Amino acid sequence: MIQKGVCVYPGSFDPVTNGHLDLIERATQVFPRVIVAVLNNPGKQGFFPVEERVRLLAKACAHLPKVEIDSFQGLLVDYMKKVNAGIVIRGLRAVTDFESEFLMAQVNHQISPEIETLFMMTSPQFAYISSSVVREIGGFGGEIASFVPGSILEDISTALKKAR
Ligand code: COA
Repeated sequence: MIQKGVCVYPGSFDPVTNGHLDLIERATQVFPRVIVAVLNNPGKQGFFPVEERVRLLAKACAHLPKVEIDSFQGLLVDYMKKVNAGIVIRGLRAVTDFESEFLMAQVNHQISPEIETLFMMTSPQFAYISSSVVREIGGFGGEIASFVPGSILEDISTALKKAR
């Protein structure tokens, strides 16, 4: 039985940023249970291994008792059914996000109409942040303290410096 009150915030989170955390914190004000689900995509390696992305998310969300961190493979709608969640949460940073998000929501609705996608506007101070910006700035030794949660700043900076 799909529970409409349980929401899933899916993404790559490679790594989690202040923009993501802002959205997760705001989702906990609306939903009793928020599952943050990292896509484990064997076709796209990414920078941080999926287990590390999960660990970083768990550390960054340690102050949020309503939040659970997980990872999934395959279709999002199948994962939603597996965890009995009825709502997908996605963030919109700018109009450029709209087109791909619109398409994804439509496809998911077509294959699984009982699952709803809800969008939250990213807070303006985080609108320019993305995981690749963090990887690029940090990879060149730049300051990423305003881009990622303080609790995981050291972990991310160290990993990016090592890869230089
Ligand atoms: N704050 C900061 N950055 C944000 C953000 C926010 N609120 N929201 C998105 N971003 C950034 C991410 O950091 C990432 O940046 P990058 O490209 O620089 O790394 C980028 O936006 C993409 O974000 P993400 O949320 O990770 O989207 P995605 O396109 O990688 O993943 C899934 C989307 C996982 C939800 C989707 O691919 C999926 O469901 N896949 C499973 C397969 C499936 O079911 N397919 C059918 C649906 S079409």
